[in-house]
Amino acid sequence: MVAINLPTQTLNASPASVAQAADVLRRGGLVAFPTETVYGLGARADNADAVALIYQAKGRPSFNPLIAHVADLHAAEALAVFTPVARKLAEKFWPGPLTLVLQKRDGAPLSDLATAGLDTVAIRVPSHPVARALLSECGFAVVAPSANRSGHVSPTLARHVDEDLHGRIDLIVDGGALNVGVESTIVGCFDQPVLLRPGGIATAEIEDALGCKLRHPSTAEEADQTRPLAPGMLTSHYAPNARVRLNAREIHSGEALLAFGTDRPAGFTERTTIMNLSERGDVGEAAANLFSHLRALDAGRPSGIAVMPIPETGLGEAINDRLRRSAAPQ
Ligand code: TXA
Ligand code: MG
Repeated sequence: MVAINLPTQTLNASPASVAQAADVLRRGGLVAFPTETVYGLGARADNADAVALIYQAKGRPSFNPLIAHVADLHAAEALAVFTPVARKLAEKFWPGPLTLVLQKRDGAPLSDLATAGLDTVAIRVPSHPVARALLSECGFAVVAPSANRSGHVSPTLARHVDEDLHGRIDLIVDGGALNVGVESTIVGCFDQPVLLRPGGIATAEIEDALGCKLRHPSTAEEADQTRPLAPGMLTSHYAPNARVRLNAREIHSGEALLAFGTDRPAGFTERTTIMNLSERGDVGEAAANLFSHLRALDAGRPSGIAVMPIPETGLGEAINDRLRRSAAPQ
């Protein structure tokens, strides 16, 4: 890989830093910015050289399609054809942590690298005020994967981005801690809408809005590398250095604890390093804390991270999805 050595700057979010960020993007540079889910690493979607820099900065081994971020539904319609189902979801959940995969519009201003050559495109309208200001200022679509090194835990603080990408990107706009904490839910709007990734909006909420169930891709479909549904959904992902052990009912020696609620597993002592996702057992709060707590525990270099069971309700589905990936063999 070509060595990159950029003087990465971190600026607090302000009208001036947002204007500067838009300018860097306009010229084909890379800017990390806050969305309500995780920090994104942005490049302008219509510039293949800029999009290629994203893969280089992240050390992503192959070209996965990226999510195009735009300011509103009107801007999204320039990129893709909206089915009635897609329009219903967009009107209900945008701006917000929902990504729709749609048929790409002919002549849409998207480089082929942004969509990895597919004839579909993933689009989202984030609700974070800094993301909204930036996208309005840009006027073009901004592709943005999570702003971490490939395979690492997603960033929910500007400091996480700097730890992973310092010297590899131009600018980080610091918008503080993010309130959703897990990536957007991805829905493929095809004949029958399909859940491509659980995320920041609970599946049940989407099904309520649609009045029907989302199809869940079968494991066979998920494993079919020739026709990936959400090609970025690698089994081993979000991986800390320490081995992650799920549904822990007891703690092994040397393990740190990622807790949920007020119970403590067998073997817990005063000396156990512990971070609690949500003392009051709230899955929304747990989602917001998930990635930063994983990073914090990992920094202490424990022999492993024991994770207490987390209910599958609401955002628990997305939390458990990410935890399973972080626990998968690397
Ligand atoms: O919350 C989020 O969605 C964050 C923030 C930064 O917006 N972004 C994010 O991007 O999570 P990334 O690149 O880490 O994940 C994008 C996912 C991948 O699983 C990718 O394969 C899938 O979207 N994807 C993108 N385009 C697709 C398409 N046309 N068809 C199916 N899956 C697609
Ligand atoms: Mg990611």
